[in-house]
Amino acid sequence: MKGVQTMSSSIEGKIVVITGASSGLGAATARLLSSQGAIVVLGARRLERIRALADELKGRGGKALALETDVTKLEQVTRLVDSAVQEFGRIDVMMNNAGLMPNSPLERLKIEDWDRMIDVNIKGVLYGIAAALPHMKRQMAGHFINVSSVAGHKVRAGGAVYSATKHAVLALSEGLRLEVKPYNIRTTVISPGAVDTELPKSVTEPDIAEGVRKIYELAIPPESFARMVAFAISQPDEVDVNEIIFRPTRQEQL
Ligand SMILES: NC(=O)c1ccc[n+]([C@@H]2O[C@H](COP(=O)([O-])OP(=O)(O)OC[C@H]3O[C@@H](n4cnc5c(N)ncnc54)[C@H](OP(=O)(O)O)[C@@H]3O)[C@@H](O)[C@H]2O)c1
Repeated sequence: MKGVQTMSSSIEGKIVVITGASSGLGAATARLLSSQGAIVVLGARRLERIRALADELKGRGGKALALETDVTKLEQVTRLVDSAVQEFGRIDVMMNNAGLMPNSPLERLKIEDWDRMIDVNIKGVLYGIAAALPHMKRQMAGHFINVSSVAGHKVRAGGAVYSATKHAVLALSEGLRLEVKPYNIRTTVISPGAVDTELPKSVTEPDIAEGVRKIYELAIPPESFARMVAFAISQPDEVDVNEIIFRPTRQEQL
């Protein structure tokens, strides 16, 4: 039937670069997309983790590449994307996913945590855009998936800086959407609620960690996020899913 495509047919063969692929949402997305025929290029600082994941996917007949990547280093993000293009000929999807959430009240002045969140959650996304955009412009095709959060829509006491970084991801994604229309590039920003990953481990303040632990009691599996990514990238080329927000059904907070 004209206009009807199965999900796997439009994911199959796509070259997908994922930052923060060593755990949580990034790893789950790599697994799902690879099972649907995508070629995944995995970046994270923990090389042994992404190497093991690439081996696992290759063992199941998939194609995958793992490269040690710190998203706070522009040259490393550029190397990740350039390697995907050199190895596989192009980049179809750039998923800017790496992030952390060491929440604390502002009055505790955890300046190093603020800096890390700004460097990874905001500048990391910008570096991903810088690395992939020139290739996508040349191709006249491509798709950015940026990961925000429900904290990019609402602010909670104790989460001001994380929330600010995730609001920034929304703003950057909307600006990108407006600017890349002439190049036939798609942009999707995904804002998850509580999903069961290693993210709560990045909280260092014990009292804040306890509050986060309570919220994450109802967290849903990371495959829920991976399905959102698969939905966005499996749409026909002329369909641009710009924003997805989802939560555990029982999540009230945030
Ligand atoms: N889980 C949730 O409930 C939730 C909700 C909303 C939004 N999010 C967002 O989802 C994204 C993924 O987080 P997650 O939940 O999957 O948490 P996670 O399991 O802790 O994964 C975070 C990933 O980010 C990577 N990362 C951290 N710093 C990095 C750096 N400097 N360079 C490269 N990679 C770095 C980590 O890899 P390495 O340590 O190996 O580098 C890891 O792969 C984040 O942006 C987070 O803010 C998560």
